[in-house]
Amino acid sequence: MKALEICGGKTLSGTIRIGGAKNSAVALIPAAIMSDDKVTICNVPEITDTDVLCEILDYLNVQVNRASESLVIDSSKLENKKIPATLSNKLRASYYFMGALLGKYKKVEISFPGGCPIGKRPINLHLKGFEALGAKVTSKGDTYMISAKELKGANIYLDMASVGATINIMLAAVKASGITTIDNAAKEPEIVNVATFLNNMGAKIVGAGTSTIRIQGVSHLHNCFHEVIPDRIEAGTYIIAGAMCGNHLKVDNIIPEHLEALLSKLQEMGVDLEIGQDYVIVNHRENYRGVSIKTLTYPGFATDLQQPFCSLLTMCHGKSTVEETIYENRFMHIPYLNQMGAKIKISKKVAVIQGPTKLLGTEVEATDLRAGGCLVLAALIAEGTTRIKNAEHILRGYEQIVEKLTNVGAKIEITEI
Ligand code: EPU
Repeated sequence: MKALEICGGKTLSGTIRIGGAKNSAVALIPAAIMSDDKVTICNVPEITDTDVLCEILDYLNVQVNRASESLVIDSSKLENKKIPATLSNKLRASYYFMGALLGKYKKVEISFPGGCPIGKRPINLHLKGFEALGAKVTSKGDTYMISAKELKGANIYLDMASVGATINIMLAAVKASGITTIDNAAKEPEIVNVATFLNNMGAKIVGAGTSTIRIQGVSHLHNCFHEVIPDRIEAGTYIIAGAMCGNHLKVDNIIPEHLEALLSKLQEMGVDLEIGQDYVIVNHRENYRGVSIKTLTYPGFATDLQQPFCSLLTMCHGKSTVEETIYENRFMHIPYLNQMGAKIKISKKVAVIQGPTKLLGTEVEATDLRAGGCLVLAALIAEGTTRIKNAEHILRGYEQIVEKLTNVGAKIEITEI
C-alpha cells in the first residue's frame, strides 16, 4: 500500500499546470476503438485510471502507442472478447466499453465496473438506453451480455441526468441506423469533449452540453486528432489549496467557465482570486465567511469538489453546510477531518461544519479518490505531519500530485507501507 506523507504549514506559491480531464479521457480511450482507423488523443493525464484502460485495450489486442501525454490507438486487430472482472472492476469507466463495443460490433460481454465506494452506483439507465436502441441485455452473476441484430435510433429519456449513461448511450447510438434523441442528458463539459471527438471521427451529434442530444447514425468512423480538455476537478482542488495556503498560486491551463460554481462560492467566502482567460491566481486571506453548498449536476457545484471543499470550510468563521445530492455515501472524509480537529456533524445528506478549527497532522486514510484530495488539502494546513494511507485512490485521478505540489513549495512524499 502507498501512503502520502505531508508536513503541513508551508505556503504554496508558483504555478501548477493542470492536466487533461480524467473523466473525459476515460471515456475517450474506449470511444477510440469505434474508429476504423488510427486515432490520436493528446493531453491524456498520466494517472492509473488511464493506465488501466490501456491495459484493457492491450487485452483486446488494440495497439496503443503512448508518448508521454499522447496516445495513438489502432484497433484494426481488435478481438471482441469478454472483459473479465479482474480488469473491469479496477475502475468505473470500464463501462464505456459497453457502449463502444456494442456500437461497433453489436455485441459486448463485460463484468460490472468498479470505481470509488461512494454509494450504490447502478447502471440501469445505461442498460435501458441500450435496450431502447434494440439491444438484448442478459446477465449472469456480475457479467453482462449485451447484443443486437441491429441498433436502431430511438427517443430516450433519462430518469436522471447521468454522465455515464449519457456518454454510453451516445457511443452505442453513433453507428445505429436513424436518429437517437437523449432527453434529460447530462451537460458536463466532458460530455461535450466526447461528442466533439466522435464528430471529429465522422459522427453526427448535435446538442451535447444541453439537455437534449441528437445523434444521426453513420456507418463509418475515421481517423482523427483530438485533445482532452483540462481537468476542472484537479484545477478546482488546487484553487481550493491556494485559498487555504497560497501566496500568488497560479493554477494554469484551465477553462474558468467550467469552474463557475466553485469560483463564485470562493468569492462569497472572501477568497482573493484573479480570474484570467485560462488561469486563476489565488491568495490565502484571513477571516473567511462560512457558506452553504449543495452538490448538483453541471453547471451546479460539482460533487467531485465537495470533499476537497470541506477542508477549506474548516477555516471559515461560523457555520457552513454541505449538502450532497448526487451520491448517498460521499462523506467518508468527514470522520478523518474530525480526527484532525475539525468540528463537523453529519445529519443525513447534510454536513454542518463549525469553524474555524485548527487541524493537527495524524494518520488518516483515503477511502476514495476525492476523499483523498480532501485529506491532502487538510494536511497542507495541519500542524505537523499527516500520513494518508491508501494513496492508490489519489493516484487514480490526480496526475503527478507529489511533483506538482512539491514544485509550489509543499513538503510531500510518497512512501510504500
Ligand atoms: N445513477 C443511477 N443509474 C444509472 C446511472 C447513474 O441511478 O444508470 C445514479 C448514480 O447512482 C449516482 C448518480 O446517478 O447517484 C450520478 O451518477 P452518474 O452516472 O452521473 O455518475 P458516473 O457517470 O458514475 C461520473 C464521474 C464521477 C462524477 C459523476 C458526477 C466518471 C468515470 N465518473 O460518474 O467522477 O462524480 O459523473 O459528475 O466520469 C470522480 O471523478 O471522483 C467521480 C466519482
